[in-house]
Amino acid sequence: MAMKLLVLPGDGVGPEVTAQAVRVLEWFAAHRGIPMDITERGFGLVNWQRHGTMMPDETWARITAADAILFGATGSLDQQGVVPPEERRKGSLLRMRKALDLYANLRPVRVPDALLDASPLKPRVVRGTDYVILRELTAGTYFGEPRGVSVLEDGTRRGVNTHRYDEGEIIRAVRFACRLAMGRRRHVTSVDKANVMEAGALWREVAARVARDEFPEVTLEPMLADNCALQLTRAPTRFDVIVTDNLFGDLLSDAGGAALGSLGMLPSASLNDRGQALYEPVHGSAPDIAGKGIANPLGAILSAALLLRWSAKRPEEAALLERAVDAALAAGARTADIAAPGEAALSTAGIGDAVLDALQREVQLPA
Ligand code: IPM
Ligand code: MG
Repeated sequence: MAMKLLVLPGDGVGPEVTAQAVRVLEWFAAHRGIPMDITERGFGLVNWQRHGTMMPDETWARITAADAILFGATGSLDQQGVVPPEERRKGSLLRMRKALDLYANLRPVRVPDALLDASPLKPRVVRGTDYVILRELTAGTYFGEPRGVSVLEDGTRRGVNTHRYDEGEIIRAVRFACRLAMGRRRHVTSVDKANVMEAGALWREVAARVARDEFPEVTLEPMLADNCALQLTRAPTRFDVIVTDNLFGDLLSDAGGAALGSLGMLPSASLNDRGQALYEPVHGSAPDIAGKGIANPLGAILSAALLLRWSAKRPEEAALLERAVDAALAAGARTADIAAPGEAALSTAGIGDAVLDALQREVQLPA
């Protein structure tokens, strides 16, 4: 049966980068026997402008019924003030993550040799960097109650958010991370602030128990979140799989992106246990460069590779796409964010062309 793929380009640079990822997926549908039934819908401010709601019912029905969602970006600043808060929540990325229970957010960070010069880190530090952050995506500070801003008796305001984790939420995230590590180098770094936060101490205890009882072949190393932030730039090659909560995962995946010199390269997959998934580049809407055709589509294209691996269940095709991206980079294809000073930069669509050319070359190579 054809995979039901819903494309939500979203705000800012989302439409530009998503268009390149869709071109690549169409190539796989046409040439590699991966049947896809692709539908596109607006997401974000376009919905407000066209339909007077951030989330038309028909779009929401497609979101909940999709096998896979390819998402561009959200977070245009124009939404602040224009759109009432309850409408913003209806059309938010966080609502999708929560409603679909997409708790396992994979954010791989891999530095291809071709990009060693683009990295702000020294080649001897960054060469060979290849790890995956598993960010828990449906709990913690992002969703904990109580939350909100209240007015105190003296008239001043108090902002409250709650960092909360139930044991089951920790268990399933850590299990996912350990299963992932079993197919890799069998090392999991579990990141928390057990020295300060009770919920962090619980995270640490539960993570250790899951690894010990269910994954004896996996080495689980606990690490404090502040130290992890340091190690990601000091010694990124020491990591294999990192499992952490929603907020630390948000911060540490941006910190990890520094190794590549640009967030534009980083893909992500958010998975639930029912076989549904959402794929999105980590970079966000980048309103300052939106519409200029210069955004880096490789985060979106590499997210399409994750889609081939996790939703289409065709790991060899995912690897083919990742090789093609490496080959395009090795041949000098660069957007401005990863070009060395003085190096020529391609447009967003130019990178799409370079990846499609590289795919053609890869499949013509003698076996
Ligand atoms: C991310 C983003 C989102 C987050 C924003 C856009 C809500 O920063 O996916 O990392 O904070 O989760
Ligand atoms: Mg983020």
